[in-house]
Amino acid sequence: MSGRFISFEGPDGAGKTSVLNNIRQALINQLGTQVLYTREPGGNQIAEQIRAVLLDKQNTAMDDWTEAFLYAASRRQHVVQTLKPALEAGKLILCDRYLDSSIAYQGGGRNLGVDKIWELNQYAIDGLLPDLTIFLDLPVETGLARIEKGRAETINRLDEQTVNFHRRVRQAYLTLQERFPDRIVKINADQDLNQVIEDVHRAIHARYDDLFTK
Ligand SMILES: Nc1ncnc2c1ncn2[C@@H]1O[C@H](COP(=O)(O)OP(=O)(O)OP(=O)(O)O)[C@@H](O)[C@H]1O
Ligand SMILES: [Mg+2]
Repeated sequence: MSGRFISFEGPDGAGKTSVLNNIRQALINQLGTQVLYTREPGGNQIAEQIRAVLLDKQNTAMDDWTEAFLYAASRRQHVVQTLKPALEAGKLILCDRYLDSSIAYQGGGRNLGVDKIWELNQYAIDGLLPDLTIFLDLPVETGLARIEKGRAETINRLDEQTVNFHRRVRQAYLTLQERFPDRIVKINADQDLNQVIEDVHRAIHARYDDLFTK
């Protein structure tokens, strides 16, 4: 496979989607149609249908393991139908969340165990790991405050359980980064968005030097 695969990870409100919206366009301008932007859960029709089940606010009764299997199932479809063919076609993939999100949220946040979620996802990823993961890191309260902004309520109203869940998510990401320091590059997301975008650009250019030298 000749393509490249970059995933974007980090806690809620870290700025993954904001950064991607910017750099995706910049990379398309530089590299043309060879750039594929996609996201998880979802990324193709079947995987997006699974996403709808996962994000349906009425599904409050969903069991934690059911959730973990659905994320893995949607990932499997994404890998087989979208990601691997794109890599074979030599594309540069930009993916908003991937495997590490399951490790952090289901393994860490939901306490299902990082190793078990890793194992479960081996069936989904079929050996496909990103060659670069941009991990946007910031304090949990800052990320949650960004998301709450614009709504009437403030961070003070978030219950302790919610905050603790997100603390475990962040901690799992930090541990993953320490375990895979070559693949996962940590970026300080607690700064001005333009600065975050610049840092992400720098990390991508540093890793894929050959892509950008004319
Ligand atoms: N560096 C930044 N400084 C201040 N606000 C930011 C920054 N980055 C993003 N935001 C704002 O924070 C909110 C969340 O950003 P965004 O949706 O990009 O985060 P995300 O990581 O994709 O979150 P989620 O995990 O929920 O999808 C948005 O309102 C966005 O405008
Ligand atoms: Mg997002």
